[in-house]
Amino acid sequence: MGISWFYVVAILLFITNAATLCRGGITSSYVRKVESSEDMPLDSDVFRVPHGYNAPQQVHLTQGDHVGKGVIVSWVTMDEPGSNKVLYWEANSKIKQIAKGTVSTYRYHTYNSGYIHHCTIQNLKYNTKYYYMVGTGHSRRTFWFVTPPPVGPDASYTFGLIGDLGQTYDSNMTLTHYEMNPNQGQTVLFVGDLSYADKYPNHDNNRWDTWGRFVERSNAYQPWIWTAGNHDVDFAPEIGEPEPFKPYTKRYPVPYQASGSTSPLWYSIKRASAYIIVLSTYSATSKYTPQYRWLEAELKKVNRKETPWLIVLMHCPWYNSYGYHYMEGETMRVIYEPWFVKYKVDMVFAGHVHAYERSKRISNIDYKIVSGECTPANNQSAPVYITVGDGGNIEGLTTKMTEPQPKYSAYRESSFGHAILEIKNRTHAYYSWHRNQDGFSAKADSFLFFNRYWHPVDESY
Ligand SMILES: [Fe+2]
Repeated sequence: MGISWFYVVAILLFITNAATLCRGGITSSYVRKVESSEDMPLDSDVFRVPHGYNAPQQVHLTQGDHVGKGVIVSWVTMDEPGSNKVLYWEANSKIKQIAKGTVSTYRYHTYNSGYIHHCTIQNLKYNTKYYYMVGTGHSRRTFWFVTPPPVGPDASYTFGLIGDLGQTYDSNMTLTHYEMNPNQGQTVLFVGDLSYADKYPNHDNNRWDTWGRFVERSNAYQPWIWTAGNHDVDFAPEIGEPEPFKPYTKRYPVPYQASGSTSPLWYSIKRASAYIIVLSTYSATSKYTPQYRWLEAELKKVNRKETPWLIVLMHCPWYNSYGYHYMEGETMRVIYEPWFVKYKVDMVFAGHVHAYERSKRISNIDYKIVSGECTPANNQSAPVYITVGDGGNIEGLTTKMTEPQPKYSAYRESSFGHAILEIKNRTHAYYSWHRNQDGFSAKADSFLFFNRYWHPVDESY
């Protein structure tokens, strides 16, 4: 009797272990109610035009140099060019300074843009709160921002992560939850697909304006670091618009020249203890192309003694176990993945898939067609791949998953939400993902990152 029970238990243990070995990580049991995601109507309060003649609107910030001492202030005036100057001053200081910017317009099909202003403020002090004012007369508007700490290995810093935001009721919930998060980031890493204006007839660029007004409540106070997505291409030769990324690049400048890039679609910045490389999935990536040559040189420049955290942003994920956009990133992955492993990238953030997923540390660099080794393998020099294309845009939620969950996938869930990356020091960073749930934000996934250069220990233990 005792022996037969022993066999039963042994067989059960074998079955359980076998199931564990064959399965991937966690597929969340939480499935949000799938409803159509509608854009908020044009007369929504979140799109309200500020009062006053020619009042600056769509005020937004991004980093303005390579090291975080510069800020690009952008805004749009609708009635006339107006002033292209920014008045700025340190909190508690009466000394006001002026920076002069540029103004331009563009035409897209039958749409004529407002007057788009960009002004780069250079040589700010680190770790300092600044107020700034744009506009003139009764239409002046004042905002503030805080500069990051000096670039250095132990500078702690918190980033928000938002992707594929759009301008639906769900988008508004995601942004609100980000703003209400007690650990809200000091800067947003935005992984592409901003306005989804291209979902409208002739890519109605008025929806670029509404998006700018929608995110102003965050983006006028903290920089958002931009990555280009497929909905930002706006390539429409059939309506006379053959210039890719026209509205995106006119509206959202980035400091690409500071990192030796020849295109605003790929560039890098240092911020606190992080070195952030932004790539373009929708530009040429193959060997000898400008992006390839830039990235090859760029990775050699990263000094982990100065910036321990090496982060890559791109729009289309390389590792994605959903049924939508499956393997779309393959052509890019096969070329660049060996570099990511060689240079020990800590984490790669992407969007595109309208859901959430976090991978284990894996690589597929052994696959050479003839080798037959086509399964991603555990690799402690490889990044963790995270998809946060879950901002909540007009295309709705991605729910279809490939089954069973691949072994490399640590956690996946079909929900909208945002993430927070809290860099504590040179060795540790705490990451959390927060789903939108029933009007409040709930932490659903978290991960304690160990730095790949300073503390390359397997975090899963
Ligand atoms: Fe996308």
